[in-house]
Amino acid sequence: MKVAIGSDHGGFTLKEEIKLLLAAADIEYQDFGTHSDDSVDYPDFARPVSEAVAKGEYDRGILICGTGIGMSITANKVPGIRASLCHDCFSAKATREHNDANILCMGERVVGRGLALEITRLWLSTEFLGGRHQRRLDKITALEGGQQ
Ligand code: RB5
Repeated sequence: MKVAIGSDHGGFTLKEEIKLLLAAADIEYQDFGTHSDDSVDYPDFARPVSEAVAKGEYDRGILICGTGIGMSITANKVPGIRASLCHDCFSAKATREHNDANILCMGERVVGRGLALEITRLWLSTEFLGGRHQRRLDKITALEGGQQ
C-alpha cells in the first residue's frame, strides 16, 4: 500500500507521529508537507494529496489539520475522493467497510495522539465490504458525472 500524507500547521505534529507509525508498519508513504508549524493554508496540501490519490498514484491519503474539517471539505471537492473525518474507531472502521473511504481526515486539536494512531491503524487495515455498499458508491460517482 502507498499512502500520501499531508497537513497544515495545525496538524503538523500529528502528521509526524503518523509517519512514524507508517514507517514502523513498513507502509510506503510520501509526505506532501507542510514541513513546520509555520502558518499555511490547508487547501494547498489537501488538493495535491487528493489529486494524487484520485489519479491512482497512491492507494490512500491521510490529511490532518486543526479540526480535520477544512481538509475534508477540500478533499471531497476532488472527483473520486471519499474523504472521511474520523475521531472515533467505530467511524474509522465503518467508513472503510461501507464507504471505501480513500482519505482519512483528523483534527490534531480534537483528538489525542493515542486515539489518532489507533484510528489510523484501524482505517488502514479495514477492507471495503462491497455488495450493497458498492451500489451506493456508484450513485456518488454518478453525482460527480462519472460512469455508474
Ligand atoms: C488553522 O488555524 C485551522 O483553521 C485549520 O487547521 C483547520 O482546522 C481548518 O479546518
